[in-house]
Amino acid sequence: MSTVAPMTPRQHRAHGKVILLGEHSVVYGHPALAGALADGVIVDATAGRGLLRIPQWDVVIDPTVDSDATLARAYAEIRARAVAPAVDLTLTFNLPTGAGLGSSAAMAVAVGRALGLEGAMLADAAMASETVIHGTPSGLDHTVSMAGGFGLFTRSGGLASLKAAPLPLVIGHTGKARDTKGRVARVAQLLAERSDETRGRFAAIEALVQRGAGAVARGSYGELGAAMTENQRHLEALDVSCPEIERMCAIARDAGAFGAKLTGGGGGGCVIAVGNDRPVADAWRAAGYEVFSATVSA
Ligand code: MEV
Repeated sequence: MSTVAPMTPRQHRAHGKVILLGEHSVVYGHPALAGALADGVIVDATAGRGLLRIPQWDVVIDPTVDSDATLARAYAEIRARAVAPAVDLTLTFNLPTGAGLGSSAAMAVAVGRALGLEGAMLADAAMASETVIHGTPSGLDHTVSMAGGFGLFTRSGGLASLKAAPLPLVIGHTGKARDTKGRVARVAQLLAERSDETRGRFAAIEALVQRGAGAVARGSYGELGAAMTENQRHLEALDVSCPEIERMCAIARDAGAFGAKLTGGGGGGCVIAVGNDRPVADAWRAAGYEVFSATVSA
């Protein structure tokens, strides 16, 4: 009788992301300042028939069964681009999901890698998956997820990395899911209805992104914080904030943060703050919010 050695799972990883400045305007070609959150998603691949298991969500997707579920459609987009090897995948999130930290892009990139995709094919598969989940993504999330590091992203130029010391951030969760698809649609509506004003805000945000990038490179976190707070005002005017985000920003500033803003799609999700990390984290916790700390580095 022959014995078969148990197959050791192969691990595939992908980063989450944090946008310091420039979400939403980045969809329209403006730059955003963003960094990777290391190993946001890990996928274990074992011999199998293509099942995707996400134990944290109590979800199993069987690609042989037709499904209209968003996640099943996103997975199908990735599989359609891969010569799908005979593996089952088990996915673990190491960051809060639905929070603006790029969990869906990290999921797509890690799953694509587990199915043997890389380079342009992986980017295309991740973009297709993100389009199912978010509508009209800029591509920032999966680009940062694939590349890692820290830098300026534009739709046309990808990610240009930035030389800077590791940047410590405090990240707090509003407790409400982010609404990237809805908020991106709302900005598109504002752009159609109040074109000049909205374009003016995009240009103002772009100036803040440039200022913020310089500030990060110089380690001038006070200046970065001021740019973040100003960016938050524009995001409020673009109707992508919400009362919980604004309350968390106010708490952070009262606790001594140099600046705070929403990060990602908005409408919920996470708030980031820079400066006086410990008092900000304590103040958020005391107000009942979940808090993480993260260091963004090249
Ligand atoms: C992405 O995390 C946040 C948005 O800028 C949308 C996008 O870039 O696709 C709002």
